[in-house]
Amino acid sequence: MDLDALCETATAMVQKGKGILAADESTGTIKKRFDGIGAQSTVDNRRDWREMLFRSEPAMQDSISGVILYDETLRQNAADGTPLVDLIRNAGAIPGIKVDMGAQDMAGFTGEKITAGLDGLRQRMGEYYDLGARFAKWRAVIEIDAARPSTACVMANCHALARYAAICQEAGIVPIVEPEVLMDGDHDLDRCYAVTQNTLKCLYEELFSQGVVLEGTVLKPNMVISGKKCANRAGVSEVAAATLKVLKATVPAAVPGIAFLSGGQSDIEATAHLNAMNVGGDLPWNLTFSYGRALQAAPLAAWRGKAQNRAATQAAFNHRARMNGLATKGEWSEALEG
Ligand code: 13P
Repeated sequence: MDLDALCETATAMVQKGKGILAADESTGTIKKRFDGIGAQSTVDNRRDWREMLFRSEPAMQDSISGVILYDETLRQNAADGTPLVDLIRNAGAIPGIKVDMGAQDMAGFTGEKITAGLDGLRQRMGEYYDLGARFAKWRAVIEIDAARPSTACVMANCHALARYAAICQEAGIVPIVEPEVLMDGDHDLDRCYAVTQNTLKCLYEELFSQGVVLEGTVLKPNMVISGKKCANRAGVSEVAAATLKVLKATVPAAVPGIAFLSGGQSDIEATAHLNAMNVGGDLPWNLTFSYGRALQAAPLAAWRGKAQNRAATQAAFNHRARMNGLATKGEWSEALEG
């Protein structure tokens, strides 16, 4: 394992002013996004959409440190034959790859999920490195309701995250470890806090016991936030304070950075929360974004599957990327959204 290279990549992924574009929707998920704008999910349309994002200037140069790709995209060429990976590298960003096989029903635990994809992962990893990936992502899903999550679900998912992370590091690939506590449901902020705290504690115990080098990892957590259907949703400063509190209680300072998922927050909510956490400064890790929907919703709505909307699409992406880049430094304000 080349530890220096791993740490260098992890540090670059979470550098101040930049964050990660999660463009790794599986074929099923991207179809849902395209259905929402009336576009067909063909191989060419998926290519055109992602190529447009990866060619967006100045977003890619100024605000994006890395891009998470789906297997299809890692192997795909732009319309002019340039590998999409090269578009990302030429912009100064790092290509990454989603390697999990999705959240599947967990045997014996109705309604809970365990992420699949460990079988054969060690063999796949070498090819991903050769194709240019320097980091990877694995997402575990933890759902909250009156009876869930079970201890078994949290433990099994954290165990799998640590096994994945160890396999990545062996191959010279930085693991993004993503234990996502979902914001679906009517639970309040305190309940999200408690579940997130348990999950992160369990995760770091597993990473430690399986010999994962924390300096060569990036954490991708949910924020501590009220459920979408909660009657009294917490405001921006409460979310920021609770999220910082749980991270300080659970995430070792050896971790170079934390890149949040957006998880169904609106674009501006996701930016405002990240900004509020970065206003105070003086944290042991850099806090940045690894957003999928909160970066892509606006450009998707501008595109609507039509080539003639390319300029508007790229303008929308440039704007959101810049806003989130500013939020990593605590320099965003709502006035800049105008
Ligand atoms: P969202 O920001 O849309 O939650 O996606 C991030 C991601 O990569 C989830 O795994």
